[in-house]
Amino acid sequence: MDQDFLPLKGTDHLEFYVGNAKQAAHYYQHAFGFELIAYAGPETGAKTEASYVLQQGKVRFVLTTSLVPDSAISQHVQHHGDGVKVLALWVDDASSSYHQTVSKGAISVMEPKVIEDKFGQVVISAIQTYGETIHKFVERKAYHGPFLPGFEAKSSSFSTEPVGLKHIDHCVGNVNLGDMNKWVKFYEEVMGFSLLVTFDDQDISTEYSALMSKVVANGNGYIKFPINEPAEGRKKSQIEEYIEYYQGAGVQHVALATDDILLTVSQLRQRGVEFLMVPDVYYDDLIARVGTIDETIDSLKKLNILVDRDEEGYLLQIFTKPVQDRPTVFYEIIQRKGAKSFGKGNFKALFEAIEREQALRGNL
Ligand code: FE2
Repeated sequence: MDQDFLPLKGTDHLEFYVGNAKQAAHYYQHAFGFELIAYAGPETGAKTEASYVLQQGKVRFVLTTSLVPDSAISQHVQHHGDGVKVLALWVDDASSSYHQTVSKGAISVMEPKVIEDKFGQVVISAIQTYGETIHKFVERKAYHGPFLPGFEAKSSSFSTEPVGLKHIDHCVGNVNLGDMNKWVKFYEEVMGFSLLVTFDDQDISTEYSALMSKVVANGNGYIKFPINEPAEGRKKSQIEEYIEYYQGAGVQHVALATDDILLTVSQLRQRGVEFLMVPDVYYDDLIARVGTIDETIDSLKKLNILVDRDEEGYLLQIFTKPVQDRPTVFYEIIQRKGAKSFGKGNFKALFEAIEREQALRGNL
């Protein structure tokens, strides 16, 4: 095999542009159990924006808001609502990552730039991906500060317990009708990813709507990006609803991995996180479909957790409702017990659950 021209060490962080970062940070701390670790804003010399850095396990989210009406951040929020702006990738060489991808056709967002403070230096570069979303390459081997230069360590005045979130399993993008293959090609040719799996509208259709999806992964498999596009159906697909409200392509859901989904989901529920519901009949023939599992059906049914099996094992998963008023970004909580797939066996039950929510919004 050719040498990986874009070696990625993992996801560095996800940055969300939001309308009110202070309140969003409180939500992620209280509801999802993240810990506040760093902050940048007027007090640290950033005059026009404020950012809160939250961490749990290896998952790091940055919530950024604009303090002025006419910035790129405020325009992004006006256009898209709260959403993921940056999928930042952790690399050993941000200059090489930039030059490799740009030479293969990536659109440049930021040429490699060295930023530094008393904790050392970081090299950052960035390229465009679908919609207004960007990939940043973050090289931090010469840095030992709390997050990035310009940020200072900050903790919360209140305590929050983690809920067992370990790392990002995958990040899904929704793109316009007809654009899925273009973006798959982008990840293959520009970023050296390979196609892992394809779902067509036969796999992912309900009575009303359909979608198609292809999953791309990088060389070491640490980074997985499923890309969805809407497919023709009798009614509006959930992907179209997303694109309408997000005003274009963007991140649909982020899957967060746990080692104990029963504990994670029961804590998330206690703290007010809302999940999609599947009907009880889903559990009636579960064992016939997935075989023997470690968990009791009752415990799964009580929390509405779904199960699917592939050749290598099984997985447990559940999806939240959108976490902002626009029906756009939501989360998946996933526990893998050998399975490396994405829960194909649950697509129908899930999409029907999403459509019930869509119908409540008058969008089906
Ligand atoms: Fe997913």
